[in-house]
Parts: sequence; structure tokens; C-alpha cells
Amino acid sequence: MDFYMETLENLPAVINSNEGMRELVASLVYEFMELQHLYDSAIEVVKTYLNIIDSEFSMKFQRNPIHNIDSRLKSPQSIIGKLQKKNLPVNIESAQKNLLDIAGIRVTCCYINDIYAVADMLCSRDDFKIIKQKDYIKNPKSSGYRSYHMIVNVPVYLSNSKTYAPVEIQIRTIAMDFWASLEHQLKYKTASEITPEISQELRSCADKIAETDIRMQDIFLRIHDID
Ligand code: GTP
Ligand code: MG
Repeated sequence: MDFYMETLENLPAVINSNEGMRELVASLVYEFMELQHLYDSAIEVVKTYLNIIDSEFSMKFQRNPIHNIDSRLKSPQSIIGKLQKKNLPVNIESAQKNLLDIAGIRVTCCYINDIYAVADMLCSRDDFKIIKQKDYIKNPKSSGYRSYHMIVNVPVYLSNSKTYAPVEIQIRTIAMDFWASLEHQLKYKTASEITPEISQELRSCADKIAETDIRMQDIFLRIHDID
């Protein structure tokens, strides 16, 4: 919220002195706040469902398929940055239409099978509309990145309306998350160049980690006597 209040309080004199301009900016700021509230609520809808299925598993099978749930709302600055990078109009309609990752949830699961179980449960909700699914576990990215990605349109019931908002859900194991977090830090948060040798090394680490994920899944199935 601070961003909006700050924007209104720090308008350039040329806008502040013009009542029409001031009102226009205020109404744009309000529209942005509404959008943020909608996406924030959509995140809550998905998180509530994920927490319910996790606790149901805990109650029925004495284990939690979900290790952790993280969420984030894209900041106004990065919404604007992404629209500019894609050469798209910078306005609220354009953001809603073109950016499907304004609301993001990252679900970290214990085992590979848990990822597919969680994805299936999200698909089974008849009020969730699945817009996109990408299986980067069966088809890893050339970087070595693995995760299951979904874009889900979820209903948000407001005081006098029902609106759908898209949420990007990334589902991965703890091991996949370990690699993705460090790779992201190494690649995007450092100024130095990533050589082909380093890319190859990172890919090789991802493959080793994927192999270990499969072995851990196998140990789980053997311990629980599941074929
Ligand atoms: P965006 O426009 O960046 O959202 O890409 P997209 O719509 O083509 O989606 P994609 O499935 O390629 O990736 C979306 C998100 O997945 C990124 O914002 C990252 O969080 C994650 N991701 C994708 N590729 C990589 C990768 O190689 N390394 C890491 N660490 N994360 C990745
Ligand atoms: Mg993204």
C-alpha cells in the first residue's frame, strides 16, 4: 500500500497543481490497488485449498505431501518492467491480459509423486480453470530446470461480484527447489558472465539431483510397501 500512498503524496508539482490530472492519477492508483487486492485474494484462495489438502493427508495418512508454500505478488515496478521488456502497452488492462504471473505460488513437495498428486487435485476443482500446464520434470529446460508449472484461473468472491484471476503455481520437490534457488542466485544475481562450461556444470548438477529425487521416491515406496 505504501507505494500508492507515496505516489499520491509525491506527485510532481505540474500534476499536483492541476485538479483534473490529480484526479486521473488518483483513479489509476485506485485501479492498481483493486488489481493488487484481487490477485492477493486469488493467492489466498489457492493457498487455503493447498493447506486443506495437506492437512487432510496428514489426518488420513500421517504425512504431509507439501513441505512448504511460498507466495508473492509481482511489484508494480516489475509489472511495468516486464511489459516494457515485452514491448507491450503499460497499463492495467495490458497487465491483466498479458501477464499471467502477477500472482505466484511456489509449492515445495517432499517427493516427485506428491507433485503430480497436488497438480491432479488442483485440476479436479471444477471452479478452477486450468489455462496452462507445463511439465518441466518430464521435459526439463535446457538449463536443467525442473518443476511442474500451472496457470490456474481462480474465482474470487468479492462483496458484490465474482471475478476470476490467474495464479502461476510452480510445484517442485525440495531437491528441485534447492537447485533452482541456487541457480537463480548464480545466474541472475551475479554480474560475472556464465560460461558454457558453467552452464554445463549446472545442468550436470540438476541431472544428479533428479537422479537422487528418483532414488528417494523409490525408498519411500519401498518403505511403504507400494509397488
Ligand atoms: P516468464 O515470462 O519468465 O514468466 O516465462 P514463461 O511464461 O515462458 O514461463 P516459464 O515456464 O518459462 O518460467 C516461469 C518461471 O519459472 C520463471 O519466472 C522462474 O521462476 C522459473 N524458471 C524458468 N526457467 C528457469 C531456470 O532455468 N532456472 C530457474 N532457477 N528458474 C526458472
Ligand atoms: Mg515469471
